[in-house]
Amino acid sequence: MKIAVLPGDGIGTEIVAEAVRVLDALELKFEMETALVGGAAYEAHGHPLPESTLKLAKEADAVLFGAVGDWKYDKLDRPLRPEQAILGLRKNLGLFANFRPAICYEQLVGASSLKPELIAGLDILIIRELTGDIYFGQPRGKRVATDGHFPGAEEAFDTMRYSRPEIERIARVAFEAARKRSKRVTSVDKANVLETFQFWKDVVTEVHKDYPDVELDHMYVDNAAMQLVKAPKKFDVVVTGNMFGDILSDEAAMLTGSIGMLPSASLNSNKQGLYEPSHGSAPDIAGQGVANPLATILSAAMMLRFSLDQAEAADRIESAVKAVLASGLRTADIWSEGTTKVGTREMGDAVVAAITKKTITG
Ligand code: IPM
Ligand code: MG
Repeated sequence: MKIAVLPGDGIGTEIVAEAVRVLDALELKFEMETALVGGAAYEAHGHPLPESTLKLAKEADAVLFGAVGDWKYDKLDRPLRPEQAILGLRKNLGLFANFRPAICYEQLVGASSLKPELIAGLDILIIRELTGDIYFGQPRGKRVATDGHFPGAEEAFDTMRYSRPEIERIARVAFEAARKRSKRVTSVDKANVLETFQFWKDVVTEVHKDYPDVELDHMYVDNAAMQLVKAPKKFDVVVTGNMFGDILSDEAAMLTGSIGMLPSASLNSNKQGLYEPSHGSAPDIAGQGVANPLATILSAAMMLRFSLDQAEAADRIESAVKAVLASGLRTADIWSEGTTKVGTREMGDAVVAAITKKTITG
């Protein structure tokens, strides 16, 4: 088993270092190889996703990813920007199924900007289609308009599109996931306006016939954005397209008040996956040793469970994280009165200690 470790930019290097220490503490037999990605790769090799990094990622059973991006790269040509690395990995590895859980940890109820009773016990799974939609649809670009409101004016355009197989496979992923949970799926679309999402809704409804034990409902994306803050616990599994999923998953993450706690997984049809925290590279706090490494550590747990067939090791990481939270340790993002503020490294140390202790006592 081989893991490609791609820390990336900003806090990426700090948080991935802690996840690697946690993996080492498990003393499992797999190889880890590190490579540059994002802005760091651009600086060293002139490209955010160098051939060598892509090759390593393709050959590995799983990729542990930190974060990419920094404002200083915003002026680069689009193909050279750090974000292209993550998009390139998704596309080249065929990582079409993105799992973004939004879980409210009991001890962190107070960290949300929503009332505690609205989010206590929250456990939503957003399943975002990740290789289609307006993100990858062709054609796209800039041109001079020949029609529309201002013929002759400069314009830019992207293409929203989904094929039947793309919708079918993500719908199946969602129904299968729901079977392991509370057997409810909400499919989010914009069928009232967009052809692409009328088709999405129709195809999801057809696929649903194979899953009569799962309850399906449909919701327009604007309403879903509203319901997520009004009554988030009504949702269980949410399945949606690439762009709506991008937006709703950030909203859902914030409900929990602690985006620094949320892992994510992006899988292809061979169970090969990329695992990354749901948050970004946070250049404003990079290098200070204050970032929360738990989302990345929990992403490593997801990696063990989904791509490396090590469910027991994944459990050990997750219990260790819970134990550390219960002991009152908090990084700055989740700190509150009465708890102990620690840095990135100390948080990693605490998780490692909790894991090692378990090993000794059996
Ligand atoms: C995400 C991010 C990415 C996306 C960016 C960095 C390209 O926002 O993973 O949600 O838009 O998919
Ligand atoms: Mg996003």
